[in-house]
Amino acid sequence: MIKGTFPVERFKDIETPFYYYDTRVLRETLDTIREELRRNPEYEMHYAVKANANPKILRIISAAGLGADCVSGGEVRAAIEAGFPADKVVYAGVGKSDREINLALDYNIHCFNVESEAELLIINELAGLKNKTARIALRINPNVGAHTHSNITTGLAENKFGINLEQIESVIEQAIALPHIDFVGIHFHIGSQILDMIDFVALCNRINELTTLFERRRYPIRSINVGGGLGVDYGHPNHKYIPDFHSYFEVFRKHLRLIPGQTLHFELGRSVVAQCGSLITRVLYVKEGTCKRFAIVDAGMTDLIRPALYQAYHRIENISSDEPEVTYDVVGPVCESSDVFGKSIDLNATHRGDFIAIRSAGAYGEIMASQYNCRPLPKGYLNEELL
Ligand code: LLP
Repeated sequence: MIKGTFPVERFKDIETPFYYYDTRVLRETLDTIREELRRNPEYEMHYAVKANANPKILRIISAAGLGADCVSGGEVRAAIEAGFPADKVVYAGVGKSDREINLALDYNIHCFNVESEAELLIINELAGLKNKTARIALRINPNVGAHTHSNITTGLAENKFGINLEQIESVIEQAIALPHIDFVGIHFHIGSQILDMIDFVALCNRINELTTLFERRRYPIRSINVGGGLGVDYGHPNHKYIPDFHSYFEVFRKHLRLIPGQTLHFELGRSVVAQCGSLITRVLYVKEGTCKRFAIVDAGMTDLIRPALYQAYHRIENISSDEPEVTYDVVGPVCESSDVFGKSIDLNATHRGDFIAIRSAGAYGEIMASQYNCRPLPKGYLNEELL
């Protein structure tokens, strides 16, 4: 999706800010993933719903045959309502409430990714009350780092996620013994926006160590879930809009030892949806500061919080102007100094009313929007709705 392919004329009828999703990019991304899965029949993909739960996006992903990885009862419901079959839904999260566990049991989801011994015991109890058996995988904290922002690193011993390596054997033994639990395998997730494949190699090595030990103990591991985390190229959304899924899957094919009959599960979120989405906003004012020129837009950190929360870079384009470039700080209207989308950004000369596209915003954009300052939530539109 390159500049010039945005239907700017159609945008004029729509209230800004809003998310614009190009389904051609999404479908091409899904086709690439499906091609990789076809080559590796023991691989299964559950899309991480947390990245974008817009029902229109979820329907396209479920129609492509992917499963869903959820982290709340709300996500489980959203996934099922969008057509994901319950037997392709997995549910992780360190703090599942009884209500959420019951909901997932009622839907007969494929698997709970359990994050503590205490949670295991509660799922066993709640499943027992329903005369059911819950399939579970144990999420292990592998103590493997990832070269990414500390707020989105999850696989270190200091992080709250998963069961620690010292306890894991005793928890597996309990899971095998509990009457209302069917222990299917192990689960990991080391972090997000990971671009250095070396981090995934380290994860594979740690998993191999563990599965060697588990085989010796004769623990029945039917599935290994390696979570998500593949990063996208925020700098080049026009040229590199399909993440390198091939290299990613190759890492696991080369480095992870599976025994016959084992399945390997992935939970990618960002890499599936980031590049199909842009936040479209209008310029309200251009203001000359003492040492800066500000382009003040009508979207704020309430619509896309990633720059404020993680100092994340998103490419910003003026899609209304072809004039020579001028440098701006692109800022929102929210009463917080961190409400800045980009500093010292070269944009085609910008005027009130121009449309600005904030790119690669399909993941962790619309879904993380808030109503701070009593601002309305942004809507999301597909390109095909605007024809
Ligand atoms: N599986 C688990 C257990 C996870 O915690 C996550 C993401 C994923 C899969 C999907 O990871 P992905 O493929 O999208 O990297 N809001 C942050 C990202 C938080 C990611 C949380 N967990 C951001 O905007 O960068």
